[in-house]
Amino acid sequence: MSNSLSIVILAAGKGSRMKSLKAKVLHKICGREMLYYSIKAAKEITDDVIVVVAHQKDAVITSMEKYFTGLTFVTQDAENFPGTGGAMMEVKPRYDDVLVLNGDMPLITRSSIEKFLANPADIVMSVIPLDNPSGYGRVVIENNQVLRIVEEKDASESEKTINTVNAGVYAFKHHVLQTYIPRLSNANAQKEYYLTDVIEMARNDGLNIAPLYVEEVEFKGVNSKNDLTNAEIIMMERLRRTWMDAGVIMQLPESIYLEEGVQFEGECVIENGARLCGNSLIVNSHIKAHSVIEDSVIRDSDIGPLAHIRPLSIIEGTHIGNFVEVKKSTLTGVKAGHLSYLGDATIDTGSNIGAGTITCNYDGLKKYQTIIGKNVFIGSDTQLIAPIEIADNVMIAAGTTVTSGKYESDILILSRHPIKKIAGFFTKFFSKGK
Ligand code: UD1
Ligand code: CA
Repeated sequence: MSNSLSIVILAAGKGSRMKSLKAKVLHKICGREMLYYSIKAAKEITDDVIVVVAHQKDAVITSMEKYFTGLTFVTQDAENFPGTGGAMMEVKPRYDDVLVLNGDMPLITRSSIEKFLANPADIVMSVIPLDNPSGYGRVVIENNQVLRIVEEKDASESEKTINTVNAGVYAFKHHVLQTYIPRLSNANAQKEYYLTDVIEMARNDGLNIAPLYVEEVEFKGVNSKNDLTNAEIIMMERLRRTWMDAGVIMQLPESIYLEEGVQFEGECVIENGARLCGNSLIVNSHIKAHSVIEDSVIRDSDIGPLAHIRPLSIIEGTHIGNFVEVKKSTLTGVKAGHLSYLGDATIDTGSNIGAGTITCNYDGLKKYQTIIGKNVFIGSDTQLIAPIEIADNVMIAAGTTVTSGKYESDILILSRHPIKKIAGFFTKFFSKGK
């Protein structure tokens, strides 16, 4: 941890190119808001992380406080001082070295940030040579010194042909910001205060400004929904690689959707097409093809193919087969092999859930619990009408509708009409049309 660096993350902009009512930095990549990732990288380096907010400020602050403590939020006066320079006006960094990051750069990593700190220039700024520089600020460089940055909207035709662009990350000395931020003006095409104008002013005063050539993939800004998807593809690939390195087996990994909050322990196998979301924890388990796991704990179990485990389920030592949906239920040592809905249920060791079993947990107004003890054998096509409690060692005959209530141990529960047989019916019925 560096104790001499402050990191400022600019997250006050609207992001109009996203074409969304939601603030740009709150759009999600691998299940978490894109701003989460730059804050995470910053927190690995320093204890002074300052996030500048304005647009949808309360939503931005609330969502980041779910993940982090100790952040400093600063509100930009975006009405009177719009732009990335306006964003810096109220920032009071604790340390002398100040690194500024755009909040729309989720792919940046700690090691890329650290490269800025190794350079002794007054200002170090990120540049990328791009085949298609459109949309970015162009960087005018001579003799390896940056002269100025021209925003695309202010650039002349000849400046637009420059293909070295500003990636939007800068390391400043605090006093450099204190000198030049108050002098910024908004006399430009967008009537905004540009942080990038600090460069030319500092250069004219003889400060040296070093360009740092950076990897396009980590510094590419997310400005549109297309950019968002492309960033997610890269982020998810990183997540899968990390977990495979940690010992998880993934079959056809590119087909597996994985979120940042998912954790694995022990020996896990994830088959193709699985979707693992939220804060799920998978321990010594086999998740079979095309299963969906959301915010649940799966331990010593096998799930699927084509199973759906919905939030707040805890599944241990259990076999879940195809077309089984589980919601907010705790299953311990259970077998539910086929075609069932188990919602708001607690089911104990040795119990067998026959095909087509349904917990009727909802009466249209409220949800109710189903509690099933140990060694309960539930025949196929059973409906359990909650609230219901079934003691240990009970057998339920196939096709039974078990009404609400408490059922004691060592019984058979059965509701069946006697079979009727009508002799000769088949022949009589099908001879009608002849
Ligand atoms: C900015 C740079 C441009 C660079 C590009 C790299 C300026 C003037 N331009 O342009 O040179 O090539 O980034 O991606 O800095 N923000 C605020 N307050 C505001 C406006 C923006 O906090 O008033 C934040 C946004 O939330 C965003 C970041 O600053 O995280 C960048 O804003 P954006 O509008 O995307 O800047 P660009 O036009 O891409
Ligand atoms: Ca941008």
